[in-house]
Amino acid sequence: MQFRQCGHSGIKLPVLSLGLWHNFGDNAPFDVATDLVLTAFDKGICHFDLANNYGPPPGSAETNFGKILRENLSSHRDELFIASKAGHDMWPGVYGTGSSRKNIIASCDQSLKRTGLEYFDVFYSHVYDKFTPVEETMQALIDLVHQGKALYVGISKYPPEQQQLAYDILKEAHVPCLLSQYRCSMFDPKAKINNFQIASENGSGIICFSPLAQGLLTDKYFNGIPENSRAAGSSVFLQTSHITPERIEASKQLNEIAQQRNQSLAQMALAWILSDDRVTSCIIGASSVKQLNANLETLNNLDFSDEELSDIKRIISDPILYF
Ligand SMILES: NC(=O)c1ccc[n+]([C@@H]2O[C@H](COP(=O)([O-])OP(=O)(O)OC[C@H]3O[C@@H](n4cnc5c(N)ncnc54)[C@H](OP(=O)(O)O)[C@@H]3O)[C@@H](O)[C@H]2O)c1
Repeated sequence: MQFRQCGHSGIKLPVLSLGLWHNFGDNAPFDVATDLVLTAFDKGICHFDLANNYGPPPGSAETNFGKILRENLSSHRDELFIASKAGHDMWPGVYGTGSSRKNIIASCDQSLKRTGLEYFDVFYSHVYDKFTPVEETMQALIDLVHQGKALYVGISKYPPEQQQLAYDILKEAHVPCLLSQYRCSMFDPKAKINNFQIASENGSGIICFSPLAQGLLTDKYFNGIPENSRAAGSSVFLQTSHITPERIEASKQLNEIAQQRNQSLAQMALAWILSDDRVTSCIIGASSVKQLNANLETLNNLDFSDEELSDIKRIISDPILYF
């Protein structure tokens, strides 16, 4: 595994981290989930990304991860860097969603209980909710650190203005933002333009989610929608309507460049994100150990020629591809 320094902090993170958004809920086979976590850890992926609402049902990914930890990794807590988040819909009623102090503090307590952890290494505001003042959300994160429930804090998907405000408030409180989490892939490079420089200038690490555009930046949809794929499943986040002819055509063209590099499209898609040295880590998802192992091979070739980069840029230049 390769590690990168996380912004201006003392923390190093693996360039590939494992996300538990899909494939770790009660709808997923527990033995596969266990194999994924243990294989990742054995290969140096010590950073695991959770959120209160990951499942389904919401909360079950944290419960299952906690069980995997207790049964297999309890003596390795100090080798693990575990994240959770709060802000998206979690429990019924007005307090079970959003970025209020009420939701953030209660969510963190619930997440600690579900995972059986004493603290999270990093706890995020999952989303800027447009209603809660950034000051209120950041103070809740700062208080979690002071209460010993989180070692570091992070923000996810904050628009530029609120992103800068969050950094300023956190810096003033001496709880600097460790990580800024944004969606980023060849099919969604917007954060590279809008958010990365602000994060970097403020000393925050950057961690990218959905780097494979949930599977579109692999060869799996080249000949239709396979039965066991995310797009064919119950996830509302990747639907058959997202598998457009334009994205498939672009993926096929990108795949040709990947083949010339002796990589799979998935591996090249991950390497492309890591070619931006402002990025600390990519959070990958995987539905099998085979996918995880294949994606780990990315690390064998992270370099791009100028020609490859400009060919990729040409293929992904049409915003019709973007999520
Ligand atoms: N902050 C936020 O708001 C936010 C939002 C979304 C995600 N996240 C984080 O980011 C993590 C990753 O997101 P993601 O799951 O969308 O990432 P992703 O890496 O873009 O997509 C992962 C999916 O792609 C497919 N895949 C992966 N490797 C493959 C391979 N080698 N060959 C073929 N298919 C492959 C699998 O889907 P199949 O099921 O089709 O096999 C896998 O579940 C999440 O778990 C979560 O921790 C954060």
